[in-house]
Amino acid sequence: MSSPLQAIRGMNDVLPEEMALWRSFSGIVEACLERWGYRAIRMPLVEQTALFRRAIGEATDIVEKEMYSWRDELNSEELTLRPEGTASCVRAAIEHSLVYDGPKRLWYGGPMYRHERPQKGRYREFYQYGAEAFGYPGPDVDAELIVMCARLWPELGLSGLRLELNTIGSAEERARHRADLVAHLLAHEGKLDADAKRRLQTNPLRVLDSKNPLVQEVAAKAPPLMNYLGEASLAHFDGLKKLLAGAGIEYAVNPRLVRGLDYYNLTVFEWMTDALGAQGTVCGGGRYDGLFAQLGGKPTPGVGFAMGCERLVALMKANPDRNPAARPDAYVLHQGEGAAAYAFALADALRSAGHAVVLHAGGGSFKSQMKKADASGAWLALVVGEDELSAGEVSVKMLRKSAGQQRVARARAVEQFNAFLLKAKE
Ligand code: HAM
Repeated sequence: MSSPLQAIRGMNDVLPEEMALWRSFSGIVEACLERWGYRAIRMPLVEQTALFRRAIGEATDIVEKEMYSWRDELNSEELTLRPEGTASCVRAAIEHSLVYDGPKRLWYGGPMYRHERPQKGRYREFYQYGAEAFGYPGPDVDAELIVMCARLWPELGLSGLRLELNTIGSAEERARHRADLVAHLLAHEGKLDADAKRRLQTNPLRVLDSKNPLVQEVAAKAPPLMNYLGEASLAHFDGLKKLLAGAGIEYAVNPRLVRGLDYYNLTVFEWMTDALGAQGTVCGGGRYDGLFAQLGGKPTPGVGFAMGCERLVALMKANPDRNPAARPDAYVLHQGEGAAAYAFALADALRSAGHAVVLHAGGGSFKSQMKKADASGAWLALVVGEDELSAGEVSVKMLRKSAGQQRVARARAVEQFNAFLLKAKE
């Protein structure tokens, strides 16, 4: 016999037990996004490789080494599984002229693909919810996105998430800073590791983000980008900080927060937790006012974020109040041919009335059926045997508390079901 095949490393099955939590997570997040005026959009999982090269930047980890790319020989196209959603969302907005009649707030959710080294909280297929606001130049929408997250965390039952904030100014301001930053890094080249030395040539700002303590030491003394920012950039940042303070949002300004994608300007931010080890960033985002033009569209300001669903679900999992058991309302047991049809119709009617009902399948004694009913987690067992069939009734038994069995007329079973359910849950 051949050995069974397994899932791809870094790509996860989510089993039914955990899906209940995922679906509760999705319901809360999607309702929140809608409440804040964001509208859903869906983009394909596959795009032209050039889209991500242009948007995310050639000298980023994602484009250099993490994309699942291939050549589609049938159409002679270079294609890539999306590593993130912002590039596709902007591409879609340009392609369908979404901002021709004014600004737009959009959200999306779904899997993203990055060929990273898998570890806890870091996967090769992972899910994001993203929000993007197109056409709003002011810091008010930066603040809106951040406050939306702050209001969402307690809805998910999460606490202790920290907000880090920075501004990386405009491309021109960064170019002026870059020369001095490179000179500083070169002066301390001996302390830089191979990665930092490479970044020094390609993307020196990313050296500030290094996790290596020696490199961090050098980075800490680098000329701060903040000193190179002009009035407009500083005013944008001040505006954002005032709005956050007004909303009662705590934050720490981290001058070394630069993010791993090249499209950002001005505001960048990350939400972090200490509860997940090394992969503590649960949400990241910022402003990308140059991206529309970079992708061939009419210049349009943009700002947004994406949250990592696996990380947020892992945090929710640690909170027992947030782990809804996927319980059916009732499990219907039956024995005998006439009873089977009767039970089938009963289950059908109850589902039409909005109840979650599992109908026993596969035969067996009442005793073995009752074991299955109990294992299903259902609140109630509904029993249809020969007796019930001939009397035109149903027996109702509470499975989560000890109370005797009661009989109810089949004709009234649906209408009285709610009362039984409420009692069972008391
Ligand atoms: P990002 O920081 O690359 O930003 O990803 C956002 C979030 O996705 C991260 O904070 C993390 O929670 C999660 N994430 C990233 N990589 C992985 C992984 N390998 N495994 C599990 N979770 C992961 C973006 O993707 C930008 N598109 C965000 C954005 C939207 N900026 C503006 N608009």
